[in-house]
Amino acid sequence: MPRKERIATLDVGTSKICALVGEIEENGTLDVLGVGLSPSVGIRKGVVIDIERNAQAIRLALKRAEQMAGMGIDEVWVGVAGAHIASQNAHGMVAVTGEKKEIKESDIKRVIEASQIISLPPSREILHVLPREFVVDGNSGIKDPEGMSGVRLEVHSHIVTASATSLENLIKGVERSGLFARGIILDLLAVSDAVLTPDEKDLGVVLVDMGGGTTDIAIFKDGGLVFTKILPVGGSHVTNDIAVGLRTAVKNAEQIKVLHGQARNDNDTDETITVLTTSGKDEREVPKRMLLEIIEPRMVEIFQLIKTAIEESGYAGLTPAGVVFTGGGSLLKGAMEAAGETLIIPVRLGYPEEVKGLNELGEGASGEAGLGYVLAPPVFSTAIGLMYYGMGSEPDKRAPIKDSFWGYLKKIGDKLKDTF
Ligand SMILES: Nc1ncnc2c1ncn2[C@@H]1O[C@H](COP(=O)(O)OP(=O)(O)OP(=O)(O)O)[C@@H](O)[C@H]1O
Ligand SMILES: [Mg+2]
Repeated sequence: MPRKERIATLDVGTSKICALVGEIEENGTLDVLGVGLSPSVGIRKGVVIDIERNAQAIRLALKRAEQMAGMGIDEVWVGVAGAHIASQNAHGMVAVTGEKKEIKESDIKRVIEASQIISLPPSREILHVLPREFVVDGNSGIKDPEGMSGVRLEVHSHIVTASATSLENLIKGVERSGLFARGIILDLLAVSDAVLTPDEKDLGVVLVDMGGGTTDIAIFKDGGLVFTKILPVGGSHVTNDIAVGLRTAVKNAEQIKVLHGQARNDNDTDETITVLTTSGKDEREVPKRMLLEIIEPRMVEIFQLIKTAIEESGYAGLTPAGVVFTGGGSLLKGAMEAAGETLIIPVRLGYPEEVKGLNELGEGASGEAGLGYVLAPPVFSTAIGLMYYGMGSEPDKRAPIKDSFWGYLKKIGDKLKDTF
């Protein structure tokens, strides 16, 4: 009988660190056994700025996940995000070798390598090289050219790069917490596995992960990633506006936002809300209107920035599947309606569905982390997506700090097999 495989992932976000431990069952389903949360410290705008404190927070999240699951972890798949991520499209071309001019795995590897010869400053590193399409003797739109005959093989790829020091610091934080980083994956790529359908990726879709400190945007077209952009704004900016505007501590502002906040200021009532003073010792009643007047402009600003990013990507009008939002920031009441009004294309909320154990365990973990409210599935999109990503990669291609593109290629191949 095939053994169950254990898998652990780590999402080092700007507002929370989330560790998941799970098992892949014999039939391939994912069973989440432990969820550990800890408040994110030592991170600013998605970049590690204090390794020791960051490592402590990682250890805490891991310990909680391990305890809940009743099993230890020694290696994790880690997500990376932050304003230092950049991406560009590239092109590579090689002559097909071999007698019969039949395209082999080695040709595919060579052409992908050729596409990754781009000029990069030494401060940057390539994180992923994602083939978008192959061209064989001028015939484009080919997803898997292996076995085809041809003389000239080309690839159009999407190259994701990261700041070398940011990557190093992220890895150091993980290693100092006693773990081996099995692979480092762009958050957005992982998230896409958890919330997008293959059809959406084929048609063309915008994925928006609104987190605490950043809002990450990815565009998928013809099944592959074609554009990425990280905006340095998110839910924590809304919280900070509330803290300043209502003169209260960030923790109270956070709870007020989750419990009473709305993206749209359509509330005309005389309702009041209870706000703690900054010291937390006294409380006062404030008209709810005041809260909504603070939130709305910031949310509109964020949606406007997303709209501009889509326009600047060159893919505006080419994403009939619309925009899929995920991440905690998109959970604000009325956020999807407000987003639809600004973006003027269909929007939906995406989250990992049908993951065994996630809801109950997420609830327990939220309580343990002392948040004062329960985190909903969209907040776990990255950590769950990392699990799917880890499951799809080849076990014998162990240990590259960066993800091997062979894992990705194989996945595309598997998906194609499913489709035909
Ligand atoms: N139910 C909710 N309603 C409104 N906002 C929420 C809710 N749940 C979480 N949030 C907000 O979501 C944000 C955190 O989202 P998330 O956990 O996805 O971020 P993160 O992964 O830590 O950050 P990032 O992805 O930017 O690094 C916080 O600003 C929090 O206030
Ligand atoms: Mg996140």
